[in-house]
Amino acid sequence: MNTNAIPAQTPAVSASNVAMQFSDLMAVKDANFELENGRFLTILGPSGSGKTTLLRMIAGFLKPTQGQIFINGKEVNAVAPNKRSVGMVFQKLALFPHMTAAQNVAFPLKMRRFDAKKIPARVLEFLNLVRLDGLENRRMNELSGGQQQRVAIARALVFEPDLLLLDEPLAALDRKLREEMQLEFRRIQKELGVTTINVTHDQREALVVSDQIIVMDNGEIQQDASPTQMYRTPHNPFVANFIGVTNLFDGKLMSASAEGAEVHVGDLTLSGILRSSSDASVLGSQARCAVRAEQIRIAAAPDALGTLDLTFQGVVKDVIFEGERLLYELSVPELGDEPVRIFHHDQNDFATHDVGETVHIGWMNRDLHIFVAS
Ligand SMILES: Nc1ncnc2c1ncn2[C@@H]1O[C@H](COP(=O)(O)OP(=O)(O)OP(=O)(O)O)[C@@H](O)[C@H]1O
Ligand SMILES: [Mg+2]
Repeated sequence: MNTNAIPAQTPAVSASNVAMQFSDLMAVKDANFELENGRFLTILGPSGSGKTTLLRMIAGFLKPTQGQIFINGKEVNAVAPNKRSVGMVFQKLALFPHMTAAQNVAFPLKMRRFDAKKIPARVLEFLNLVRLDGLENRRMNELSGGQQQRVAIARALVFEPDLLLLDEPLAALDRKLREEMQLEFRRIQKELGVTTINVTHDQREALVVSDQIIVMDNGEIQQDASPTQMYRTPHNPFVANFIGVTNLFDGKLMSASAEGAEVHVGDLTLSGILRSSSDASVLGSQARCAVRAEQIRIAAAPDALGTLDLTFQGVVKDVIFEGERLLYELSVPELGDEPVRIFHHDQNDFATHDVGETVHIGWMNRDLHIFVAS
């Protein structure tokens, strides 16, 4: 990696007003972001939001219809993919089935006319890195899904690219293997320090592996932040709802200041923290309140809730066992017709509330995010 020559302040990758138009569809609109050298960025969003399109522009398979992409400070719009020092792993691994693991990993080195004498040692080094030592002579059909994945990672990294691009390479794996491989990606990425861009629609994966997350919807970047910032201070209802399980209530903005804001929802006044920019916070405008399922407390009696800013009574409509936690769905007439969703982790009084039972719930005002439509 040629990282030594690059001044620290130059981002490894940046996009400036990048757009991609396919006939009448804007698949990516005015994207701007910077990624520091050695960091792990995840592009997160629902199907069709433009994630792959953005990644393909960074890889060089698509030329932006507007804007510029920079790699290590150099504009690369006109640079071919094989001249970009980029390693890639896609959902379809495109490994050579008739070749062994070692031959697959050696392939990019041969393509790049790497010193032939040094190839076997380099291949072994990268097979060790992905923990496939001993399996170098197996063909692809003699390896498990997870092992094939590792071959693909080794092949993408063996020529020491400046940038690793991952487009949902884990999507086809079962959940347990996927979670294992997520941590594996993180370990390898840390060990090599290679700048990485990962695409996924799995919000858990994004939170677990990333230094930086970009949430996309409908071709637009909704927020660009660290995992904790993204979780704690979502910029809009889409982000609040996409990351975690969130309850949304619609109302009218009644007051707004740096300390907090108030929204009328039906006959209620909800207090919370304004997350939209202050110039959008015109009093009387439509506002959306969001509170996460894990920020709502639930108990059989009101005094068992502890100190909360706001409490309600509700009736349990459904209880879903999720292993380490329970998901309650409640009817709370004061909060509208939508069921209120609450996660409950307390092992001691697990499964205390049954369907049909009247319960007490509540939250702290600091956990209610308020968004005003701009
Ligand atoms: N070559 C193309 N020609 C025309 N439209 C395209 C092309 N590639 C993608 N699109 C459209 O652009 C939009 C964004 O597609 P993209 O593949 O970037 O989404 P994505 O976020 O990666 O979705 P997924 O999670 O399903 O992979 C979609 O509406 C898609 O149909
Ligand atoms: Mg995609």
